[in-house]
Amino acid sequence: MPQCNSIAMAGGNTYNENCQQQTDVLTAALPLFDDIDLGTNVTIADYGCSQGSNSMIMMQHVLNRLPPSSAASLIFEDLPSNEFSSLIKLLPQLYGSNPSLKIYTSLIPRSFYEPVVAPGTVDVGFASCTLHWLKRMPMPKPSNETVLEYYAKRPDRNAPAAKEDLREFLTLRGDEIKRGGYLVISCIGCFTDEELAHEYKDATIIRHRVVFRAAEQLANEGKIPLKAMEKINIPIHDRSEDDFLSGIREFSDTWVMEKYERKLISHPAYYRFLKACQGADETKKAAAAKEYAGIMVDWILAVIGDMVKVWWLESGVEAKRIDGLYQELTTVAKDLLWKEGPGGAEMPILYTRLRRL
Ligand SMILES: C[S@@+](CC[C@H](N)C(=O)[O-])C[C@H]1O[C@@H](n2cnc3c(N)ncnc32)[C@H](O)[C@@H]1O
Repeated sequence: MPQCNSIAMAGGNTYNENCQQQTDVLTAALPLFDDIDLGTNVTIADYGCSQGSNSMIMMQHVLNRLPPSSAASLIFEDLPSNEFSSLIKLLPQLYGSNPSLKIYTSLIPRSFYEPVVAPGTVDVGFASCTLHWLKRMPMPKPSNETVLEYYAKRPDRNAPAAKEDLREFLTLRGDEIKRGGYLVISCIGCFTDEELAHEYKDATIIRHRVVFRAAEQLANEGKIPLKAMEKINIPIHDRSEDDFLSGIREFSDTWVMEKYERKLISHPAYYRFLKACQGADETKKAAAAKEYAGIMVDWILAVIGDMVKVWWLESGVEAKRIDGLYQELTTVAKDLLWKEGPGGAEMPILYTRLRRL
């Protein structure tokens, strides 16, 4: 049985500082909460809350709709390895901004592929940018495949496990969410072949690939062992719209899909990059492209950086060399992405609101 995925986002508040695209993904989901009757004693659960900065935006949006003196139980759930201490630092602001409400918070360090709260206790569940995380570690990169080949084959390889994970997630949440309650999901999807052929580049994959091409360079220079490259197995799967919708339809006796929309969400740095290029000379355009590439690499490393460090340690790299090598990897990746050129800013997001029957 493959090992469970247990490594969370990069620590040291790094995720909170580099998650602006996820902020925009979440913000676009907020209207899905707006016509829900929340009552005056509501329990909201955020499944996969990470270090909390985005979770607070969603929780505040819900709290804004509660009448004075209402009670709100706010549940923040993520993997045990998640840096909950960053989230804890954000809580006083939430209490302070809502003096007329009675707010009760709980943190749950447990995988959402397990039961995490008592049956029938949650009014509204939320999962934003989390459902693409697989329960188990997928097959690592075979040693005879290049990074590019590995990424080309990965969607088909991971789709069956992702299908099973969605079933498990919907079953577990079906137990936890009250009858008549809601589950709001913003799930990272994938582009269609048609879109990739004509209009879009796959932003997530470009950012991943550039990190691993940088690692390949370090390995070829003898700075990290080649076997570290074989550990590449980020446990994510960007779902196709068909898989997502058919996976939910399987649960038509538990969940009604009240709303659904697919939207493309760009990293906000892309708009800044485009603006900086307007009427700019070549030098300024190059500087804007460099800044954009830097932000993209920081974005992906805030998600997978701690995994990369663990693989290096497991492959025999001395602990005292990790930080220096990581800095080098970051610099090389930024340079590679800058040379490749900007593009691939959008992520397809599948938004839905399900009602528990
Ligand atoms: C990209 S972050 C999204 C965080 C947050 N929802 C947001 O919108 O910014 C994905 C989060 O899912 C969490 N995650 C991944 N697998 C998980 C699991 N099995 N159980 C609980 N959380 C998980 C990660 O630890 C991480 O914090």
